[in-house]
Amino acid sequence: MKIKDLEFEPFIGEAELSEAVLRVAERINADYQGRKVMLCPVLTGSYMFFSDLSRRLTVENEVCFVKYTSYEGTSSTGTVSAVLPFPERVRGKDVLIVEDIVDTGVSMDHMLQEVRKLEPRSVRVCALFSKPGCLQRDIVVDYVGREIGNEFIVGYGLDYDQEGRTLKEVYVVKG
Ligand code: IMP
Ligand code: MG
Repeated sequence: MKIKDLEFEPFIGEAELSEAVLRVAERINADYQGRKVMLCPVLTGSYMFFSDLSRRLTVENEVCFVKYTSYEGTSSTGTVSAVLPFPERVRGKDVLIVEDIVDTGVSMDHMLQEVRKLEPRSVRVCALFSKPGCLQRDIVVDYVGREIGNEFIVGYGLDYDQEGRTLKEVYVVKG
């Protein structure tokens, strides 16, 4: 399968994705039992993951999308800007940031600094994927669907230069 100049091959199928989503949801349901969680999915990459995850959640919740951008093509640019920042109403709440993928951790590190300024009661991080081998910041991803290597992936919300997001399975760049 080709997107722009890159060739991709199948990597993670629908069944494996839904198992990962279910595992994460069950842990969140257990950990936040009896509390209300302020879910903050990060646009645009987490939209499909969040849609499936949210249908598995049984805990009381509020939803507030945020949007921070840092990425161009297949490598991080290192500068993060807020397109849709955390709102004032996170103050005093139990915030759970929902990301598609943590790569270098630069974006998440920035978002954590931003949200903490608003003094939420607690902040945790959930990401469908993480690339531990690429991490450059001292951050903890509390809930991870699946760890991957240093490869570049698309599909299930993740894009290559804004394309490939609506693929229902995850593909990895070839070779
Ligand atoms: P970080 O700041 O390097 O951790 O990059 C995080 C952001 O880069 C994620 O929210 C994604 O939007 C994007 N990203 C990182 N790795 C990939 C990938 O393999 N495929 C598509 N997008 C990625
Ligand atoms: Mg993203």
